[in-house]
Amino acid sequence: MTEDVDRLDAQAREILNRNDRGGYTIPTAGLYPYQWNWDSAFAAWGFSTFDIDRAWTEIETLFKAQWPDGMVPHIVFWQDDPGYFPGPDIWGTGTDPASSGISQPPVAAILARRIWEADPDAGRDRIAALYPRLVDWHRWWHRHRCTSGVAAITHPWESGRDNCPDWDPGMAGVDGSGVGPYTRRDTGHVDASMRPRKEDYDRYLAILNFGRGCGWDQETIIADGPFLMADPFITFILIRAHRDLAAIGKALGHDTAELEAWADALVAGLPTIWNEALGCHDARDLRSGRFAGVLGSGAFLAWLAGPVAPEVEARLVEVWDRVPHGVPSADPAYAGFEPRRYWRGPMWPVVNSLIAMGLTDAGRADLAERLRAETAGAITRGGFNEYFDPVDGTPCGGKDFSWTAAIWLTWASPSAGAKGAT
Ligand code: DGY
Repeated sequence: MTEDVDRLDAQAREILNRNDRGGYTIPTAGLYPYQWNWDSAFAAWGFSTFDIDRAWTEIETLFKAQWPDGMVPHIVFWQDDPGYFPGPDIWGTGTDPASSGISQPPVAAILARRIWEADPDAGRDRIAALYPRLVDWHRWWHRHRCTSGVAAITHPWESGRDNCPDWDPGMAGVDGSGVGPYTRRDTGHVDASMRPRKEDYDRYLAILNFGRGCGWDQETIIADGPFLMADPFITFILIRAHRDLAAIGKALGHDTAELEAWADALVAGLPTIWNEALGCHDARDLRSGRFAGVLGSGAFLAWLAGPVAPEVEARLVEVWDRVPHGVPSADPAYAGFEPRRYWRGPMWPVVNSLIAMGLTDAGRADLAERLRAETAGAITRGGFNEYFDPVDGTPCGGKDFSWTAAIWLTWASPSAGAKGAT
């Protein structure tokens, strides 16, 4: 047993080192050959278990691509790679370094706080330099994505959960018929049955084209863009991230009232995404007002914002109980549930690590341990894949994935528990 754990720990470190491209880590070779925003924050957390300097460098490299308005882009194209579509020429943002025009779940402050706590002396100067940049990014979220009261996304890719059923009502209103011919690269790396469908890609590109067409002007995108949906997943992450950043700020001697007010405003907005019929928080199309009506990973992050009511917890556990291998990204009882197609049902170790963080803080260490054990079992049997089929545990998507290696080292591995990482 200990030998197995040692071997898997070593393999996880080896994956992070192998995916290191010099200052930043790619999620996986082939499928995702650049720096991705939230992947990188998780990679940094993973590095912090064996190379604290490298952990800070990962976040610093990501923030080198921060836009003047505070946005931290979802992809940074540090070098050319014809194996990925859509590349920098399609995004047309004109930034240096080249980057995409949308953001991604703001987990960096949550994980930076943990990295700092892992070695307060080594991290003090690094976090002090990053702090104002993190505040600028959080301010960008507050100004440009939280005007409805909760966090919204302007593109399914901005959610990090690209094709989950949450986005179906918003995607139904997007016309993808005029995007013209293009060649996808993702299906050359991973079986097409695990990836979003062509009609999804047509719409992803139509939304991207709108952003490029208006020069990535946020006011135009929010007012007239083809897609705008409130996202419980990012809302819960942002509540927690604002609070974690405030804790960092306080420790550094800053006034953090602004951050605390942003978190409080999001908590006050939560009733607008409460779907009574579903018994949990739900994604909502801000153009039509329609709820997605699917219980998914967004609802499961509720614990990140604090304890949840017993009836909500019972509802969430009821859905989790439907599968043996971790929390499914969509309710298996939902008619469109697909256990292996990207975000339309699979279990994601990285999401489980965030759910467990909330559970632990909300005093549900028993549920956090159940989730850790189910996640660890899937990785031990299947490898460090991007995600897993929650019904039979089959490893899916990209192999040797940085964020799966990272959450193994920080949380899922039995040796991580010994270090008190949860
Ligand atoms: C992709 O290309 O599949 C990415 O998830 C977009 O960020």
